[in-house]
Amino acid sequence: MVEDILTERPVLVLDFGAQYVQLIARRVRERQAFARIVRHDITAERVRELNPLGLILSGGPSSVYEPGAPQCDPAIFELGLPILGICYGMQLACRALGGRIEPAPAREFGRSECRVLDPSEPLFQGVPERTTVWMSHGDQILDPGGEFIPLAATPTCPVAAVRHRDRPILGLQFHPEVSHTPAGSVILGNFLDLICGNPHEWTMETFLERACAQVADRVGVDDRVVCGLSGGVDSAVCAALLAKAVGPRTVCVFVDTGLLRTGEREGVARAFGGRHGLELRVVDAADLFLGALEGVVDPQEKRRRIGRVFIDVFREEARSIPGARFLAQGTLYPDVIESGGAVDGPTANIKLHHNVGGLPAELGFELIEPLRDLFKDEVRKLGLELGLPESLVWRHPFPGPGLAVRCLGEVTRPRLEVLRQADKIFLEELAAAGLERQTAQAFAVLLPIQSVGVMGDGRTYESVVAIRAVETDDFMTADWSRLPHELLEKVSTRITNGVRGVNRVVYDITSKPPGTIEWE
Ligand code: XMP
Repeated sequence: MVEDILTERPVLVLDFGAQYVQLIARRVRERQAFARIVRHDITAERVRELNPLGLILSGGPSSVYEPGAPQCDPAIFELGLPILGICYGMQLACRALGGRIEPAPAREFGRSECRVLDPSEPLFQGVPERTTVWMSHGDQILDPGGEFIPLAATPTCPVAAVRHRDRPILGLQFHPEVSHTPAGSVILGNFLDLICGNPHEWTMETFLERACAQVADRVGVDDRVVCGLSGGVDSAVCAALLAKAVGPRTVCVFVDTGLLRTGEREGVARAFGGRHGLELRVVDAADLFLGALEGVVDPQEKRRRIGRVFIDVFREEARSIPGARFLAQGTLYPDVIESGGAVDGPTANIKLHHNVGGLPAELGFELIEPLRDLFKDEVRKLGLELGLPESLVWRHPFPGPGLAVRCLGEVTRPRLEVLRQADKIFLEELAAAGLERQTAQAFAVLLPIQSVGVMGDGRTYESVVAIRAVETDDFMTADWSRLPHELLEKVSTRITNGVRGVNRVVYDITSKPPGTIEWE
């Protein structure tokens, strides 16, 4: 797929097992260069074929001298290509070309004050002579060897950056990709612009043009594409792209599970009904889903049943679409990388994550995944480019099993209605306070307990609603949002006054870990 549609010269990011490898790729793309994450042992021959602008060797948890430590093909240093080594990557480059690496007297982890030794060096153009950098290493370069010139130092690391004497090979001991290195993106930008000659060709405008042409070519004029819409950003952008590429040959299927938030179904119908002739089918399957959930309280069992019903419903609907040969999915680059599915990419990682909207292969379709080269922030930009409303492009993710995993205990229509009303109030107030974008996810949870309260002169014994708001970039870890007390008070008052059956509201102040974002 990658090679089919992308003609930009990539910047290859060789993955040595770094925690931050995707972040490096995102930072490069922010500078409008197309970063691709590839295996650390990619051959020099393959690198040459890919005709990259340059290479970035990532960091990694190993020590270059450890037996079994990941190595690269030494011939890549002979290709004449610009290379930037970061942390482990720098040590590897220096070692390959004659430097000496030793364990540091003390591991260095965290912020450090970096001094630029020669401000006229292109890599440090526009960087203050003293700047904070983020370090995370055990080894360091003791002696860069005769081939390398030190460019920067920290109090404990005399060789914090290097340049090869006569080849375009550079190294940084610190991490320019993390936000704790404030000058990091300038340094990466200097590498890309001044050393690699970045032509700034990676934009969503050009991507869209090519992705549409490729989808149109693949689908042809006789077949049709089925696209499952979940109401989330990825499937919405995928559908809008299909609409533009092959308009009337797209059939979008939106399954109303009865587990959706207020206004969700209407929002999807508004955004997609009539778009470029695309056909939208809304399948009303609430009875099936709620029937399957009757009496179920175990979270995993809820998920299993919902997953099964979803596939049945989808299969049934797809059968009734004549000429449907393709199934489009909004799979993103991180999923492709982590599942080990990228061309030249690293093998599968440890990640065990939810299969977001994934439908099984045995449905018998050929897959189209037009977003498989994009990060989430790029998908959002593409959505705006496609003319989708901001409210859809910036919406928070919503789990596949929907409100079932936010309605703790048994999922019934009346309980779902209580949850929907509380959730709507919270989201309205969050938006009114202008804090929707600051939070990555915000929602209400209906707890399976009742508590005592007073209302007027009477005692009440009613349900408890928990509200949750988190901040996160990757959803693997998350911090609870420090929402203003005034906002929390307003939400609590509106819910207890306006939602019948709720007399208490609590705010969840648990981060992930040890909590998860969802309660089930
Ligand atoms: P947790 O609760 O594991 O959630 O911290 C991390 C992210 O994943 C979403 N999530 C799901 N998404 N199917 C999905 O498609 C699921 O079963 C599921 N469970 C959690 C959650 O909303 C958060 O964004």
